[in-house]
Amino acid sequence: MGRTANTTGILFLLLFFMAFFTTIIYLFSRSFRSEAPGEPIEELAVPFWKTNIILQVYPRSLYDAITDGTGDLVAVSVVMDVRLKRSLSDSHRKTAKRKKQPWWQREIIYQIYPRSFLDVKGKGTGGLKGITSKVDYLRDLGVGVVWLSPIYASPMKDFGYDISNFTAIDPIFGNMEEFEELVTTFHQYGLKVVMDFVPNHSSDQHEWFVKSVKQEDPYTDYYIWANSKGTDDSGSPIPPNNWLSVFRGSAWEWNEERGQFYYHQFLAEQPDLNFRSQAVKEEMKTVLKFWLEKGVDGFRVDAILHLFEVEDLSLDEPEVPGSENPEDYASLDHIYTTDLPETLNVLQEWRHLLDQYPDKLLMVEVYTDKIDVLMKYYGNETIPLADFPFNFLLIERLKDRSQLTGEYLRDAVGLWLDNLPDGKWASWVLGNHDVGRVSSRVGEDLVDALNMLNLLLPGTPVTYYGEEIGMQNTFISWEDTQDPLGCRWGPEHYQEYSRDPARTPMQWDNSNFAGFSDASETWLPVNPNYKTVNVAAQIMAQASHLKVYQELAVLRKDEVFLKGNVTFPIITEDIFSFLRFLDNSNWYLVVINTSQRSVEANLLQDSIQELPHKATVVLRSTSDTSESTQPGLEVPLDKLPLTSGEGMVLLLPPGN
Ligand code: NOJ
Repeated sequence: MGRTANTTGILFLLLFFMAFFTTIIYLFSRSFRSEAPGEPIEELAVPFWKTNIILQVYPRSLYDAITDGTGDLVAVSVVMDVRLKRSLSDSHRKTAKRKKQPWWQREIIYQIYPRSFLDVKGKGTGGLKGITSKVDYLRDLGVGVVWLSPIYASPMKDFGYDISNFTAIDPIFGNMEEFEELVTTFHQYGLKVVMDFVPNHSSDQHEWFVKSVKQEDPYTDYYIWANSKGTDDSGSPIPPNNWLSVFRGSAWEWNEERGQFYYHQFLAEQPDLNFRSQAVKEEMKTVLKFWLEKGVDGFRVDAILHLFEVEDLSLDEPEVPGSENPEDYASLDHIYTTDLPETLNVLQEWRHLLDQYPDKLLMVEVYTDKIDVLMKYYGNETIPLADFPFNFLLIERLKDRSQLTGEYLRDAVGLWLDNLPDGKWASWVLGNHDVGRVSSRVGEDLVDALNMLNLLLPGTPVTYYGEEIGMQNTFISWEDTQDPLGCRWGPEHYQEYSRDPARTPMQWDNSNFAGFSDASETWLPVNPNYKTVNVAAQIMAQASHLKVYQELAVLRKDEVFLKGNVTFPIITEDIFSFLRFLDNSNWYLVVINTSQRSVEANLLQDSIQELPHKATVVLRSTSDTSESTQPGLEVPLDKLPLTSGEGMVLLLPPGN
């Protein structure tokens, strides 16, 4: 009898041991399992041992479940069970919350210009392997999405925006295995990968165009072909109309072999595809599917405004009164060649296609300052189109410092937010590969403040590589100029148009070529300021743009920035500010001194909304070294010292 009781006891204990260890293994496997695509892996960012309290259990004394006077493992597992149930229900609540907000609203998008990010092959040009090798840097920076400018097969007349094979990787950047490795690695780190999609045109080296020239079906009408209007005095064929290329001069190029003109909205080496052809539409959908099957998380659609032009090719576009140069794209009003209604139908088809896959991002490049045009590309509740068109207002309006005031910035920010259709989401962009670097446009003193604005306003921030360290435009001589747009304007004017200054190699450290390459020369020169402006130096520095950026990225994870409301309490000539608030959450006030001098702002006096007398500094611009505004300190809001261009993030006391 005694033996039986003993055996039952041992069996009982064994069973509990097994249950206990299974529970532990289950808990561990949950914390290390990679999540379904589309869900941010927040657990990876903060290790469990930083966010949990450690409970030391002395088993003899915790709880006696077998009532033999000594605490036991059965009891420990009872306690664990309560903890397990709670953590599971927490995680369900968390998942439910997460599902409501798509990843592309919660994450920062980082644009990489692959030629210039990192060259690990000693070629002087960056590539996929270099990008993959920097996954730690990107994760530590706090960005969640990487958008790659084109990496497809290309003769590189427009550095990848002239594509000769939409489903192949150009050898300059690497190969398909390297691309797959990049996607896998980034996904393991919880980073999304977004591709550039260039539907408007191909390269003139694309097989489709070569066959179209020869009128080989089905390619004959893959492009926009037109007869000449006759010949001029010198016997040269006259284009069918006055349409201009974005890159200057006629948008028509004569093709001797076919005896017709073809239309090119950009370079002559970038013939426009004919989106009135069903076959072309299908081809481009096949391209999207190809990359979706490779696991990419979304697309940035290039030049979507130009997708269609009117069918009647005899129509001239009206001239813009007062324009000086008839060759200049801005000299015509592009009523027949941009933003045609058919464009939205195609976009709707792409949206539909992407929605066949879980959680994909569709963002579109709509380069216009017409706000009503921009908003159309969001679609509406019943017909959703892009998740967002890029918001280029901070590029357009911040071409230089001359007009910058608090009021001016408020207008620029408000224009987007005030026009946003119901239920739609904003985006913020300070720079990209087509414009000068923001640090050079408006001044280095504003770098941190503008990153605060980009990352903390409601919407998705897009950061162009190097903006996090305040990279500046690089002077490029006429001899070194690569950008076709710069080249077309000649030695006199290239500097006004060339996009090279913003495309130079990423500045990693102070070694040769800023640690970008081991080659004997790089495709564009490195900015000579790399000795001081580089990632390594900014990691070592006590305060730096990079550190401010990293802290902003962490701060942005607070629900108040992801879901909270916004108001603009203090807007004056010198001050731009915004308040982020949400019930049951911290409230933050971001204040920016837009002037080029130090000020002592009286926020209380200028605020249109009641504010507390004091707030706590969370973050400030690198340039501010004052003892009184150190993070963690309380500062008086009626006497807030701000250096030139400084931004400051303040935490309001609870109860506001
Ligand atoms: C817009 C891209 O951003 C630009 O770099 C390119 O030159 C044109 N589209 C043509 O593809």
